[in-house]
Amino acid sequence: MTLDDARAMLHEWVANPALRHHMECVAACMGAYADVAAPAERASWMLAGLLHDLDWERHPTAEEHPRVGVAFLRTKGVGEDVLHAIMAHAPYTGTPRDTAMARHLFAVDELAGFIVACGKVRPDGVATLEPASVRKKLKNLAFAAAVSRDDIATGIAELGVDVDAHIQRCIDAIRGLRDGQACG
Ligand SMILES: [Fe+2]
Repeated sequence: MTLDDARAMLHEWVANPALRHHMECVAACMGAYADVAAPAERASWMLAGLLHDLDWERHPTAEEHPRVGVAFLRTKGVGEDVLHAIMAHAPYTGTPRDTAMARHLFAVDELAGFIVACGKVRPDGVATLEPASVRKKLKNLAFAAAVSRDDIATGIAELGVDVDAHIQRCIDAIRGLRDGQACG
């Protein structure tokens, strides 16, 4: 499955523009990390980002998300490595984050959402957003309260990366979206 195929599927399953944008942001972050961690798997890493919440709008319960999406994607021939990462991004599935793709997907998912939220309250969006500002907002639990600070911290710990470097990489990836899409 190509990224364009995945986008077509995304548009079929997801009507909410903010959720579509979230998937593009996560795909961009995954692409940025693949460049340094797994260049040969870049397309797969981006697919995982683009499709991880495919079923969220139709099947938001913990019983169904992301199982329904994963079962559907399996019928479309999406690789098991990608499906595993998608399952593992939802901790309640009990699927271990035992691959680099799975750990990175978990580590960028909530943070990408948080960075977008930070951009929304700035006049120039994410254009001049810096890690220090993101860290400050993370401490303000009333801001973007739905974003799990624990998940962000766990993701960073599992990657073993510097906090600011991680935030910066994700900001850069989201900033680099062209026409709202991650570059394949
Ligand atoms: Fe997500």
